[in-house]
Amino acid sequence: MNEHLPESGRIDSHTVLYGVIGDPVRHSKSPIMMNRAFQETGINGVYAAFHITPDKLADFVAGVKAMGIRGVNVTIPHKLDIMKHMDHIDPGAEAIGAVNTIVNDNGTLIGYNTDGIGYVRSLKEEAEPSIEGKKIVVIGAGGASRGIVYALAGERPALITIANRTEDKALELARALRGKAEARAITSEHLKEACRQADIVINTTSVGMFPKTDESPVDASWLKEGAVASDLIYNPMKTKFLQDAESAGCRSHGGLGMFIYQGAYAFEYWTGRTAPAAAMRETVLAALQSG
Ligand code: ATR
Repeated sequence: MNEHLPESGRIDSHTVLYGVIGDPVRHSKSPIMMNRAFQETGINGVYAAFHITPDKLADFVAGVKAMGIRGVNVTIPHKLDIMKHMDHIDPGAEAIGAVNTIVNDNGTLIGYNTDGIGYVRSLKEEAEPSIEGKKIVVIGAGGASRGIVYALAGERPALITIANRTEDKALELARALRGKAEARAITSEHLKEACRQADIVINTTSVGMFPKTDESPVDASWLKEGAVASDLIYNPMKTKFLQDAESAGCRSHGGLGMFIYQGAYAFEYWTGRTAPAAAMRETVLAALQSG
């Protein structure tokens, strides 16, 4: 569908449309990242950010079909509500209960979730090549946690331990993983002990995110030396949790890679081409560093 390349990267009458929807959406780095990917691969596509409020979601979906928008990323607060507008939902997204990527296949809308697989690809490429047999502690049991624990479950870890401020949500998530991986929920009194034994400790909460950068979800001194401390937050790129973990002799893994790879998978679903992940990362990094 992208065989007609525009002259010197310009938009022409063959250009295929893509975009991200959210409320708010103006902070999103997806447009610069995805347009760089199109440019890098010579694909005649253009990607924009659409501010869609919840009451306009159905109209937006009708617009996607009418205009032949090929691909959409879905961010807060639409990841759940968008599901009822899909013609098909990928089993992974169904299990997670959230869609962050839509593929428009000639008017048939298919919903995927690339957050979890994006996270795992980033973790494997940047911090821990093999997750098999590892003991993992996940802090938080919200939407982001759900996506990543499902993806981690597919990597045959020895144990996934979920700790959450609201214990019931951790229990529910651990229960949902039954049959997929060895999983348990713990209360905060047992977090110290779980961290001591863990190979990988992951923060999925917003604790430590800008502007409250002096907060940390866990005492990093509890982690064993050489363990991986991983944070889904990428603003700041190195949270207090990661800084403290490095000081304690741990390896640190920040959230930027997850953002890049969730986008890379979306790009691959839309275009069938390998995403230029290094170029995408370079563009996002430059944007983050220039504020
Ligand atoms: P997301 O999609 O980013 O995961 P979410 O579904 O609202 O957002 O989930 C946020 C997660 O961070 C939850 O696990 C939440 O704990 P609760 O279930 O107890 O609400 C956790 N969280 C947010 N702020 C927190 C804080 N200050 N301390 C501890 N946990 C926090």
